[in-house]
Amino acid sequence: MTDIRRDDRLKGKVAVVTGAGSRAEGIGNGRATAVILARHGAKVTLVDTVAQWAEETKRLIEAEGGNSQIVEADVSDPASCQAIVARTVDNWGRLDILVNNVGITGPRGNAVEVDAAAWDQAMRINVASMMLMAKYAIPEMIKGGGGSIVNLTSVAGLQGGHPSLLYPTSKGAIVSLTRAMAAHHGRDGIRVNCIAPGTVYTPMVASRGMTPQMRQARSERTLLGTEGTGWDIAYGALYLASDESRWVTGITLPIDGGATAGSRGSPVPPSQPASVTPAR
Ligand SMILES: NC(=O)c1ccc[n+]([C@@H]2O[C@H](COP(=O)([O-])OP(=O)(O)OC[C@H]3O[C@@H](n4cnc5c(N)ncnc54)[C@H](O)[C@@H]3O)[C@@H](O)[C@H]2O)c1
Repeated sequence: MTDIRRDDRLKGKVAVVTGAGSRAEGIGNGRATAVILARHGAKVTLVDTVAQWAEETKRLIEAEGGNSQIVEADVSDPASCQAIVARTVDNWGRLDILVNNVGITGPRGNAVEVDAAAWDQAMRINVASMMLMAKYAIPEMIKGGGGSIVNLTSVAGLQGGHPSLLYPTSKGAIVSLTRAMAAHHGRDGIRVNCIAPGTVYTPMVASRGMTPQMRQARSERTLLGTEGTGWDIAYGALYLASDESRWVTGITLPIDGGATAGSRGSPVPPSQPASVTPAR
């Protein structure tokens, strides 16, 4: 579901979206965000370890008359992060928006079971990558008078109950990283926020093999009774990237169909005859 609502609120802005590809043809959070930022006027660097996965994103942007470039890179590598920023500034002269979207499920298991080496690698991809991208992006944002950084966490970083230890730990760290960075860089006009998606149906989720029953169970965990899509996340990123959110920093925005707001509770029993004495 993509629509054609468009304005030029990001005209003249330059963005980097990491993980802007999607395995298969579906719409991941990074792909949707890149398309929506470009649709509203930004020039967008599409970062992915698999350039081929970013090509469909570029095709979608070009089909709407937008402007993008692909940089094949691994955001867990410092030199690659430096090169992503350099390629962006070389091409378009500035950098205003960074969406740190890359995140992996990582190794499964509780503390007893999880593989320690895989833990280190996944923490590097999910958390250190955001610091590394910011390390090179922030000086360029300062040159341009400020900027907006949007980090992708997850409702798993806000709540307990996840079957693995790695994923919620890394996503919880992103919430703290976001608040700390918001404090460090606010006086330079740089806002840092995060989005916590809930049960969004993306290619990453589909690749785990979801039966209709599993998807129904995911939907039931929301107040709205539905799954989300990458577009729902992208519109949150558009808000946080644009000047409409000029006084918003350090927040975590859940986009989750109300899942973190509470549960729908038990069905209400049939109404009983009134036993309350009427007010006089
Ligand atoms: N899908 C959900 O339900 C959901 C829920 C909560 C949070 N999130 C978060 O949203 C973000 C995106 O998820 P998605 O489902 O859209 O993912 P996705 O798998 O659809 O897309 C992620 C892209 O990132 C790329 N990538 C992976 N590691 C990389 C690296 N080291 N360097 C550069 N690119 C790399 C992949 O090649 C892929 O194209 C993640 O941070 C994820 O944790 C997703």
